[in-house]
Amino acid sequence: MYTVLFVVAAYLIGSISFAVVCSRLFGLADPRTYGSKNPGATNVLRSGNKKAAIATLIGDCFKGWFAVWLALQLGPRFGVDDTGIALVAIAVFLGHLWPVFFRFAGGKGVATALGVLLGLNVWLGLATLATWLIIAYAFRYSSLAALVSSVFAPFFYVLLFGVDPLLLAVVAMSLLLVYRHAKNIGNLINGKESRLGSKK
Ligand code: G3P
Repeated sequence: MYTVLFVVAAYLIGSISFAVVCSRLFGLADPRTYGSKNPGATNVLRSGNKKAAIATLIGDCFKGWFAVWLALQLGPRFGVDDTGIALVAIAVFLGHLWPVFFRFAGGKGVATALGVLLGLNVWLGLATLATWLIIAYAFRYSSLAALVSSVFAPFFYVLLFGVDPLLLAVVAMSLLLVYRHAKNIGNLINGKESRLGSKK
């Protein structure tokens, strides 16, 4: 019963789109109206405002971390088991992708997934972040870095913890993240993907 409350709270937390909120706070255009039209840190960076992009990144990452942290801290007292934590992890991610506060038009989930992974285990999050940084530095494509990281994340999880219900949450996030990058995958194949930091 309490698990449902944690899952709903996680979905609502995930539904706060920091790309839209930070853009408003910084007096920028709505990120859903320019660039890739994605409400995410990479697209906010296309506005030219690095501070707003970093604030978006931190906010979207924090909400993923916070929802999982809250469930891990308070959950056991209310009978929330590993399966419940896995559902909380998926719920905050789904909130970011399909936010109830923004007509279900959300982002691609990269920063939020990182927050979730950091919340589950700091080494899991750092290994995935390191993967993102290496690919982003080498190729200058945010989307490619996210795609490669999302493939690696479940392997990092298995190496650290083996197979358990939380692995399903990590795999589900990776699959949804790849699904949300369908357009980016097409652009990467056609050589039309914009490089990290490019204003187009
Ligand atoms: O953070 C999302 C990133 O992987 C791709 O964003 O705006 O280039 O579609 P974007």
